[in-house]
Amino acid sequence: MDAACADTCALVRVRQCRQMGTPKTILCTLATLGLAAAAGGAWLVWGGLYNVSATEQHTQPVYSLLETAMRQSVRLRARGIEPPALGAEAQVVHGAACYREKCVQCHGAPGVAQGDIGKSMQPLPGPLVDARQRWNARELYWVTKNGIKMSGMPAWEYRLSDQDLWALVAFLERLPDMTPQQYAQASAPMMPSGQGAPGGPACGPGPRAAGGAQDSVRRGQRALAQYACNACHTIPGTTGSFPQVGPPLAGMARRATIGGKLANTPDNMVQWLRHTRTVDPLTAMPEMGVTEQDARDIAAYLATLD
Ligand code: HEC
Ligand code: HEC
Repeated sequence: MDAACADTCALVRVRQCRQMGTPKTILCTLATLGLAAAAGGAWLVWGGLYNVSATEQHTQPVYSLLETAMRQSVRLRARGIEPPALGAEAQVVHGAACYREKCVQCHGAPGVAQGDIGKSMQPLPGPLVDARQRWNARELYWVTKNGIKMSGMPAWEYRLSDQDLWALVAFLERLPDMTPQQYAQASAPMMPSGQGAPGGPACGPGPRAAGGAQDSVRRGQRALAQYACNACHTIPGTTGSFPQVGPPLAGMARRATIGGKLANTPDNMVQWLRHTRTVDPLTAMPEMGVTEQDARDIAAYLATLD
């Protein structure tokens, strides 16, 4: 093709294609269409044409497509989960208390409006009164444990014990039958199930099944993103926009000290991650509520970064 046809080369190629045999024509047309789609996509992205404002709703076809992809993804991944016995009264009451503490702000409840954050999110987190119609128990468990990427639904795996997660599922299954009064009673901060002190938090992280050293490294890598370490640090093995708020953690295994305060040993790393401000009251690194087990896993992962 000569230079003069540069602008219309796609059309010219289609015409050239017509002069070839049928299989070649198909391949050539597909290649041309592929190029045109890539050019259109690049224009959309680099031209800033897609409106990311959360006040602009998705169009119905885009919404339906995303929703279907999400549904199918959850179905596939939840298949192998075996639910325990669900529905005992104490379990539902415990689930209601967890729900009031962790979920109402976004999802609302019978007689309770969502908080401002929940009301203004896109996609909008709905009241989960009808969730039982769309999801079975293992799927509700999977969604609550793992969250939904790019929707704002958080993963609760690192915030709630397995017992809490199943109690939430039991509660969600009972929710459609609850009146606002029954919900208010079940979710009252005084905990008849005996979990937690009256007025104190009803739910929290619990121990996870211990695995081998390799398992610990893998869990540590996952935990980094769940404790938002990658919001401040650029860390090999996590994706992000290369933040510079804290020092990059590449080569951490080779450093002599942690934060210039402690010798770089696994125990000291756990100490730093859990009690950062006790180690150094002046440091800008906040305490992130890391549990003992998660701190050990994160330390194991950081020790592999040389
Ligand atoms: C920060 C806000 C937020 C919090 C807190 C939150 N969620 Fe969500 N949740 C969302 C969003 C956003 C969606 C996605 C809605 C969509 O895609 O239609 C969602 C979706 C879900 C779904 C699937 C809904 C459906 O019917 O398709 C379930 C189940 C769910 N959340 C359970 C929970 C539980 C249980 C808790 C508390 C442990 C919780 N969520 C806390 C924002 C939140
Ligand atoms: C809000 C930002 C912020 C978050 C979130 C954060 N850090 Fe830090 N981190 C810092 C800053 C700032 C320093 C430097 C502190 C100093 O030297 O006093 C630091 C220092 C460190 C160091 C010592 C680095 C060195 O070279 O000595 C390690 C290790 C570390 N952070 C790991 C983590 C892990 C793991 C998490 C998640 C559990 C985390 N950080 C979360 C800001 C943050």
